[in-house]
Amino acid sequence: MSIQRPKGTQDLLPGTVEQWQYLEETIRTVCRAYGYEEIRTPIFEATELFQRGVGQTTDIVKKEMYTFMDKGDRSMTLRPELTASVCRAYVENKLYGHPQPVKLYYMGPMFRYERPQSGRFRQFHQFGIEVLGADQPVVDAEVISLVWNLYQRLGLTGLEVHVNSVGCPTCRAKHRKQLQEFLTPRQNELCNDCRERFERNPLRILDCKNPTCQAVTTGAPTTHDTLCMDCSTHFERVLVLLGLAGVVYRVNPRLVRGLDYYTKTAFEVMVEEIGAQSAICGGGRYDGLVEEIGGPPTPGIGFAMGLERVLAALQVQHKLPEEKPRLFAMLIALGEKAENEGFALLSALRYQGIPVSMDLLGRSLKTQLKAANRLGAQYALILGETELEQNLLLIRDLRLGDQIEIPLVKAVEEIKKKFQRGV
Ligand code: HAM
Repeated sequence: MSIQRPKGTQDLLPGTVEQWQYLEETIRTVCRAYGYEEIRTPIFEATELFQRGVGQTTDIVKKEMYTFMDKGDRSMTLRPELTASVCRAYVENKLYGHPQPVKLYYMGPMFRYERPQSGRFRQFHQFGIEVLGADQPVVDAEVISLVWNLYQRLGLTGLEVHVNSVGCPTCRAKHRKQLQEFLTPRQNELCNDCRERFERNPLRILDCKNPTCQAVTTGAPTTHDTLCMDCSTHFERVLVLLGLAGVVYRVNPRLVRGLDYYTKTAFEVMVEEIGAQSAICGGGRYDGLVEEIGGPPTPGIGFAMGLERVLAALQVQHKLPEEKPRLFAMLIALGEKAENEGFALLSALRYQGIPVSMDLLGRSLKTQLKAANRLGAQYALILGETELEQNLLLIRDLRLGDQIEIPLVKAVEEIKKKFQRGV
């Protein structure tokens, strides 16, 4: 049997890649508008970074990491997310010595050994941002409004923006205790995963999709019931600012994120139309993470969005731009002499940045014209023996069907003019 790609991965072929490029370009434009700079970190890191950063009790660290020993007997892991890596880079490169806050964005592949299904992959791509060194509510609002702004620019509708505050370690300890007390009498009714979560991370039980667990947790104390004054004032201010930025959101006191590092603001964006894996973006504040991985106490906040899911949403909502013709002109050279002349012309046109191509299989005029049409070329540049004898080039407009002859020496100049005029 021929070799196939690994389960949960995709080949992105021409035709699809253009959609990715469109999304990536839009993202870069929005990031520039908000003053974010790009960071690129390694695809693999020391396993300990994610164990300490993402948290030992999370599904990611417990079940989903691609971990291997390298030839030097060091445990390495393909990055399952980038927040921990960005914090490591912040500490390692002493970015805390730069003017604060440091505002970074990234795009690239992440790896999680999950059960693949529609919208859930083992290699997927995230766009994310991280702001390090600022704890003001206005930063939280800026981060969420960037997500909102991007989705507006892309034309997405039906968005559900859920916002919550999970509090600081002090309010969380209180909440944890209250929640365990509430759940103790009905602990046996919980699903296996949640029974395990009861000791380790009871907050996650609030997030379980199992209907029985959802019924058991109805009326359970939420993070809001235990927020301290500081966390509560912070959250109220974030909500006011979100309103001012025009973000349409819903406060969801049951929103608990699946990673351990969150403090205060947490949020998620959903689009129901794309199916069960409807979360297209998730993020929040993580004021203890930089310190956790060995840096100075530094507040942080960010998010990441799954690009496969954003593209799926754009697809179902018919918001992807029409594919543009890829070729401006196709050169059709008949015979070796014409091929020599044509090849030189092609190089000159490409040097000017004009997308032109030529037949590489020595086919007939008719077949080449068909190929030019199929590739969406606007013009065919025909160079046969007759044209060559008279030092001419025949330019045929493939849409209108008419044609003109121009002196070969003027070809680059004339074609460039047409290209610049867009005709
Ligand atoms: P996360 O919620 O694990 O957060 O992932 C963020 C987004 O990545 C999800 O909302 C989803 O769109 C996408 N995603 C996650 N797993 C998969 C998968 N297996 N297949 C396809 N898409 C997926 C984080 O990763 C945090 N680092 C976000 C963050 C940044 N928090 C603060 N800063």
